[in-house]
Amino acid sequence: GKIAVLLGGTSAEREVSLNSGATVVDALRSLDYTVREVDPADDAWMAQLEGVDFAFNILHGPGGEDGCIQGALQALGIPYTGSGVLGSALAMDKQRSKELWQGIGIATGGFAMLQENTDWQAVIDRLGKVFVKPACEGSSIGMAPADTAAALQSAYHDAAQYGVGVLAEKFINGPEYTVGILGDRALPSICMQTDNEFYDYEAKYISNDTTYNCPSGLSAEDEAEVGALALAAFRSLGCAIWGRVDTMRDVDGRFYVLEVNTIPGMTSHSLVPMAAREVGMTVPQLVEQILTLSWE
Ligand code: DAL
Ligand code: MG
Repeated sequence: GKIAVLLGGTSAEREVSLNSGATVVDALRSLDYTVREVDPADDAWMAQLEGVDFAFNILHGPGGEDGCIQGALQALGIPYTGSGVLGSALAMDKQRSKELWQGIGIATGGFAMLQENTDWQAVIDRLGKVFVKPACEGSSIGMAPADTAAALQSAYHDAAQYGVGVLAEKFINGPEYTVGILGDRALPSICMQTDNEFYDYEAKYISNDTTYNCPSGLSAEDEAEVGALALAAFRSLGCAIWGRVDTMRDVDGRFYVLEVNTIPGMTSHSLVPMAAREVGMTVPQLVEQILTLSWE
């Protein structure tokens, strides 16, 4: 069959998606699939789907990862990889994800939604140090730490450039553990440590000073706990097929879910390929597995 790889797009994560897309295209070609690269930033992208049997969606961020493209593909009758409309839309919205998790008892950090007229000091008094983030972005875009009312207000204004919906999330001292999901399975967790103040865009894609440990060094019991938490968080949003769940481990030893990524990065710096390698899976095998699971 002929496969369209959807890559690029118009979100702030366009560059990341072009890199992820190159990995997927290479993998599919190595598996002898006929591949057409389709970029929704191009006006004619829908016409380019003519004659395509299946779409491999490797778009990141709003527009591509949030249910919009998923709905369009569904309306066109083209099967696609990954989560459907509902899971994609919920996972892209950190406010609704966290509200849902709080409602069903999945551990996630305390938070407040910020607005122009927020009482900045009251937020700091309640939560202490926080991370400010746009509710609907990926790759740590627009994120900043704040521990004073003035810093909180200024971080809010920076984050608000990425759209409505800005949250302040209680700072958890880390480290960060991230768990890839493939089908019904949680892949081995990866522990991330960075010299930057947090695992920001630069630490993710530019710096070589971030260390990734896989296996993460957790005890078997803790590994099972973070894996089960990740799967529960993923499924509770209606997500399916593949993804990655980011968590932080607090000083009390508990894990807290930060977010679910329904189309995680597949660049050379990326984490799901690293976790897959740990269970003996090459990138082409991972890509084929995602296709097979989506096609079933
Ligand atoms: N949002 C980026 C692509 C990731 O989660 O890997
Ligand atoms: Mg993300």
